[in-house]
Amino acid sequence: MEAHTPPEPVLETAIRIDSHLDGTHERSLADDVLDGLTRPFKELPPKHFYDARGAELFDRICELPEYYPTRAERSILEQNADELAQLTAAAELVELGSGTAAKTRVLLDALHGAGTLQRYVPVDVTESMVRDCAAELTGEYPGLRVHGVIGDFERHLDQVPPAVGPRIVAFLGGTIGNFPPGSRRRVLREISHLLGPQDYLLMGTDLVKDPEILQAAYDDAQGVTAEFNRNVLRVLNRELDADFEPDDFDHVALFDAEHEWIEMRLRARREHTTYVGDLDLPVHFDAGEEMRTEISAKFTVERLEGDLLAAGLELVRWFTDPDDLFALTLSRIASDAASAPDG
Ligand code: AVJ
Repeated sequence: MEAHTPPEPVLETAIRIDSHLDGTHERSLADDVLDGLTRPFKELPPKHFYDARGAELFDRICELPEYYPTRAERSILEQNADELAQLTAAAELVELGSGTAAKTRVLLDALHGAGTLQRYVPVDVTESMVRDCAAELTGEYPGLRVHGVIGDFERHLDQVPPAVGPRIVAFLGGTIGNFPPGSRRRVLREISHLLGPQDYLLMGTDLVKDPEILQAAYDDAQGVTAEFNRNVLRVLNRELDADFEPDDFDHVALFDAEHEWIEMRLRARREHTTYVGDLDLPVHFDAGEEMRTEISAKFTVERLEGDLLAAGLELVRWFTDPDDLFALTLSRIASDAASAPDG
């Protein structure tokens, strides 16, 4: 009997997922904690809020009556998705920090309806989220391919595959506001490298408004945001063998009127010293000492245009909700920056 192997059929598989997490994520937590907790004004970057419990608490925040950004952004998307689809004729949606892709479906619906959609590229650090949404979305949109990238959008943007056609890069939720001005422009410039001349960045930003509305959104009556804030200490306890007592800290949310950003802090209720086992690091807190855990910048159109321009991007369209709570902006490579070298 002659052994004959038939040629492999050339299959366009609907789902491809690449992982770029190889322990570097854990390392970045340790580095961030060592750096942040040995400063004279202690600080932890907000990216470490989002373990499974943190992601769940954030989902609960999004449902709170005080927390308007998620609802406002969704309504703006719903109002304008068809126009976005027409304007961009996008074949592909790349989403940074895709999560459960809840709001993404509004866009995918419009692009699918316009007949241009071919591929969705979710980029997220949480592997289960990327895998689950890939499976769900390929089921929901016939013909859709999903190329998931499991990675950190601050470090793995070069792993985003080349575009299959006109592309929208979506950076929703207002996450860009977590970066202070300098890093914000760096992140925007890195994102701009994903864009060719026919591509667009679609970004969500929270807007400057009455401080009382802002304050309430970050210090809700039910205390969900307070639990979310304290959750970062649980992450440190688990991942770095630290011994923080979350109840030793009060949740603080304040609007910094000069910088026009919300700051979240954790304030030590009493003087004490914690120990971060993996770093062999004792950390002393004075009574009342505050540690910054997040900034969430609020934008005006001028600030946004300035940041975009500094990153070589130009504003194309600006969409808001009727109450001007939140904005979605469409931008592209600035015409006079298209050939400029990297800054
Ligand atoms: C997900 C970063 C946009 O800044 O509003 C919600 C996170 N922090 N409540 C925000 C958050 C406190 C949120 N982002």
